[in-house]
Amino acid sequence: MMEFRGRLRLSPLCFVLFVCFAFISEPGVQAWSKEGHVMTCRIAQNLLKPEAAHAVQMLLPDYVNGDLSALCTWPDQIRHWYKYQWTSSLHFIDTPDQACTFEYKRDCHDPKGTKDMCVAGAIQNFTSQLSHFRGGTSDRRYNLTEALLFLSHFMGDIHQPLHVGFTSDEGGNTIDLRWFRHKSNLHHVWDREIILTAAADYYEKDMDLLQKDIEGNFTDGIWSDDFASWEDCDDLFPCVNKFAAESINLACKWGYKGVESGQTLADDYFNSRLPIVTKRIAQGGVRLSMLLNRVFGDSHEDMIAAT
Ligand SMILES: *[C@@H]1O[C@H](CO)[C@@H](O)[C@H](O)[C@H]1NC(C)=O
Ligand SMILES: *[C@@H]1O[C@H](CO)[C@@H](O)[C@H](O)[C@H]1NC(C)=O
Ligand SMILES: *[C@@H]1O[C@H](CO)[C@@H](O)[C@H](O)[C@H]1NC(C)=O
Repeated sequence: MMEFRGRLRLSPLCFVLFVCFAFISEPGVQAWSKEGHVMTCRIAQNLLKPEAAHAVQMLLPDYVNGDLSALCTWPDQIRHWYKYQWTSSLHFIDTPDQACTFEYKRDCHDPKGTKDMCVAGAIQNFTSQLSHFRGGTSDRRYNLTEALLFLSHFMGDIHQPLHVGFTSDEGGNTIDLRWFRHKSNLHHVWDREIILTAAADYYEKDMDLLQKDIEGNFTDGIWSDDFASWEDCDDLFPCVNKFAAESINLACKWGYKGVESGQTLADDYFNSRLPIVTKRIAQGGVRLSMLLNRVFGDSHEDMIAAT
């Protein structure tokens, strides 16, 4: 309020600008908690080859003006709607406590035991649906717009280490703790807190700068030697299994390690985990583009045939 009055006194123009700015920036503020997804999708879309870029453009509704990232959080928004209840188990994988491994047959199911209903099954499902894209937006069996949005979102989720977590703590959701001075939980630390703290400390809260830094690090920075291996993928099934296995590994080594309920996580945890978080966002984006380039390119038959 004080700041508002201060601005008001400056000049009427400032006041008008301030109000406009407040309106324009509102949706951005709400989307902050979803920044990991937005960055994953922007990184991916920047790496699309012309054929895939065109297909994505065709599948997106007109009102997003070709911006995939605008709808990358849609699966989170609809997961509790009655019509989409079946999607809620597709965001994660519960693995046995302390096992630190992922086995598709053992772990990929919903709480009722319906097989394939986990993030690894969903990625295969929607990738193979998209391979039926033949230039139009309609398909008798599937809604390919939804398939694109689900795939884009779930490629983010499977790379978030705590989305492949232990069963009894729901991927860290029930581990309540403090992030610096406010209340949070371990899952949320990995979904959001680390990203927001990084943005505030190092990028003037500008997510575009963080995204550019991530992109710079795989084009000709610290990850440029690894970059090609991220895209290694002959068949979809082993690839998706690899993404999930990497996540539970990282969850054990960096997520859960040394963490107890009620604890305060601060600088030490933040500084050592930030490089893991940014690398996983990079890998999610690079691999999403790899899948979309293949599924909408000429060579997709090879990869899908094996599933
Ligand atoms: C695959 O998608 C269809 C809807 O197109 C859905 O009915 C089915 O449950 C999905 N399965 C998985 C594993 O995602
Ligand atoms: C596909 O799904 C989107 C998002 O739910 C919806 O707006 C669109 O109408 C659907 N398209 C068809 C052909 O059903
Ligand atoms: C990019 O690499 C530099 C080191 O060259 C590092 O300081 C920076 O934190 C990295 N940024 C991200 C987002 O990974």
